[in-house]
Amino acid sequence: MAAPLRVLVTGAAGQIGYSLVLQIAKGDVFGADQPVVLVLLDIPPMAAVLEGVQFELTDCALTTLRGVEAVTDEKSAFTNIDYAFLVGAMPRKEGMERKDLLAANVRIFKSQGKALADFSKPTTKVIVVGNPANTNAFIAAKYAAGKIPARNFSAMTRLDHNRATAQVALKSGVTIGDVKNVIIWGNHSSTQFPDVKHAKVNKGGSETDAYSAVGDSAWLQGPFISLVQKRGAAIIERRKLSSAMSAAKAACDHIRNWHVGTPAGEWVSMAVPSDGSYGIPEGLIFSFPVTVEGGEWKIVQGLDLDDFAKAKIAATTKELEEERDEALAACADSKQ
Ligand code: NAD
Ligand code: LMR
Repeated sequence: MAAPLRVLVTGAAGQIGYSLVLQIAKGDVFGADQPVVLVLLDIPPMAAVLEGVQFELTDCALTTLRGVEAVTDEKSAFTNIDYAFLVGAMPRKEGMERKDLLAANVRIFKSQGKALADFSKPTTKVIVVGNPANTNAFIAAKYAAGKIPARNFSAMTRLDHNRATAQVALKSGVTIGDVKNVIIWGNHSSTQFPDVKHAKVNKGGSETDAYSAVGDSAWLQGPFISLVQKRGAAIIERRKLSSAMSAAKAACDHIRNWHVGTPAGEWVSMAVPSDGSYGIPEGLIFSFPVTVEGGEWKIVQGLDLDDFAKAKIAATTKELEEERDEALAACADSKQ
């Protein structure tokens, strides 16, 4: 059996953490033959809750789980980790946009970016889940630069990708496995562009495009887009808490694909540092369609974008540039 991977989950005493840690511990992410040591980080007031989660994980008696460490300091958390799930941050409440969390959360990611540089390996891979996820990932990557390459930082738009896939499957009357290659472009926010122009649906035994399978272009260009953009808010309105089960599942999907690769002919959406593809300013953490091979993601090139798509992508790019500038200003002001 392989040597254990050391996997950090921050915010592990929170809602998403509670769903996430079991999936990682039982092999859903790294496989049934890959042992893991879980490192759980939360803030000191949550130490007892964290210990409760640690006890429960131990009591699951999992063959893949080789240790659980519950910690409340960054040095213990970030030392020698292979993967980091950065979840710990404040969630939004009803009526807020995710970027309203920027000032409160960005300092966490500045501090954790520095901790990654100080204590983690140059090969450590990071997914940021805490909102506003793209901009938090940008800040973490900035403060870890010099030690960990920017391409090891990503933000989660897989939940949006899964939401879009599920809606296309429902509307086409097929199963989830019959839909592939939806795309989420841009920010994990209400400006994101869920795009099914290049998606494929297996309907009645033959592969067709999503527009034909759905048979309702007006829905795809209107209600479908806002449904996916506002799904997080719809869940908060109903649960009075933000999505947790689906967010944890999406984080696992994201890291599993990064670790083991994407199937032939398929891509997934990941927010990664732009290399200038599709005219997106370099360095912005932007959601693109990506394929993964040998642990390295690659942005899918050459997709045709019509004027509708270009306008939507421009809007989400503008929002990300504004968030970046606001976050940099907040970090410059903070002494931590
Ligand atoms: P939660 O409030 O239940 O849990 C957050 C946990 O983080 C708490 O236990 C808190 O003590 C901890 N925390 C706060 N500061 C920390 C720090 N500096 N270090 C370590 N831990 C810290 O929230 P949740 O529902 O689990 O959501 C967590 C974050 O994920 C929120 O920002 C939420 O908006 C975001 N989210 C993102 C997506 C996405 O698709 N990207 C989806 C759902 C939720
Ligand atoms: C989501 O998309 O469900 C999360 O980002 C939580 C939120 O604030 O919407």
